[in-house]
Amino acid sequence: MTSTLITHIGELTTMDDDDRQLTDAAVVLDGGTFAWVGRAADAPAADERHDAAGRAALPGWVDSHSHLIFAGDRSAEFEARMAGADYAAGGIGVTVDATRKATDDQLRAGAARLIDEARRQGTTAMEIKTGYGLDVDTEVRLATIAGEFGDEVTFLGAHLVPAGSNADEYTNLVAGPMLDAVAPHAGWIDVFCERGAFTTEQSRRVLEAGRAKGLGLRVHGNQLGPGDGIALAAELGAASVDHCNYLSDADIDALAGTWDDARGGRSAGPHGTVATLLPACDLSTRQPFGPARELVDAGVEVALAANCNPGSSFTTSMPFVVATAVLQMKLTLREALRAATRGGAVALRRDTSSGTPRPLGSVAVGCRADLQLLDAPSAVHLAYRPGVPLTADVWRAGVRVA
Ligand code: NIG
Repeated sequence: MTSTLITHIGELTTMDDDDRQLTDAAVVLDGGTFAWVGRAADAPAADERHDAAGRAALPGWVDSHSHLIFAGDRSAEFEARMAGADYAAGGIGVTVDATRKATDDQLRAGAARLIDEARRQGTTAMEIKTGYGLDVDTEVRLATIAGEFGDEVTFLGAHLVPAGSNADEYTNLVAGPMLDAVAPHAGWIDVFCERGAFTTEQSRRVLEAGRAKGLGLRVHGNQLGPGDGIALAAELGAASVDHCNYLSDADIDALAGTWDDARGGRSAGPHGTVATLLPACDLSTRQPFGPARELVDAGVEVALAANCNPGSSFTTSMPFVVATAVLQMKLTLREALRAATRGGAVALRRDTSSGTPRPLGSVAVGCRADLQLLDAPSAVHLAYRPGVPLTADVWRAGVRVA
């Protein structure tokens, strides 16, 4: 593999362990990782040279929540919502019907199109959930296809109780034979812990069964109303609890406690439970935004993700998510950038402190060489010029992809 020097970077946001911001910077990509990062004047030679011409650079986005393997369209449901209808979990069933009928190649083509769309907007890592199969064979099919597109596959058999099924019997299926069949194809297990989906006890059963199989834990919690999802995620040591629209002070304290324990050496790992916020989903479902400011102020690691899916958030655009977090959720630009890069990597336990090979979300020697250049002199333009397509170039694992 040839090495590449990218030089004359006007502003480099590294999100490295020292949170360095460099001006007139350069990086060398070699063998899929960053081999050198520093001032352009000190840069070593490389096989190839790319002149960034003063553009801003930052890590590729780490989008830690997506539901990309599906068929069908729910634009009519969206239109009805914009005319005043409520978002309800039951819409998932419409996508399940279409997904079960689709061929593997149709599902692959849909995912490939969305991943390509995301890459062209700077996304270099995506978590992908199952959850539109809800029977053993289709969930295995979705996990296998998801695995063809990335290495962060999440089993979400507990997305909705399928029409005509008994909730407890279906939970037993998910936590038993379905988990047995899907676990070899997934690294994570997730559950939609919400009124209209799975109760706290059903969610606990699914998560504990997944953990016993060696899967990491993720939770959809407190999206449509107050509930126990946050407390359950914190209690079980989930890597992330996602949505977080309706949080009480006790929920924020519970999440902050997981970080106090991690930082104080009282938990097994270096991290607590990440709060993953999904502002594009909040807009599309007309839910209140999650309390980003309060979470950051309480010491909780926050991630931002696009939550691409056909029902609640049909977008792959992390620049839109970042701009919304700054303009509407009271995060500073740097907090939003961190949440969309390093925060996502923490939510996937792929950041520099997780002990993972080739960490994600930071521009630092040894990290996977995921980098984006903006058609702007500074990353602040992502929020200053919302809606303007600013992604100029994207490298993923050292390969130029857009
Ligand atoms: O994360 N909330 C549950 N699951 C998805 C939405 C799925 C759908 O509506 O199809 C989400 O928003």
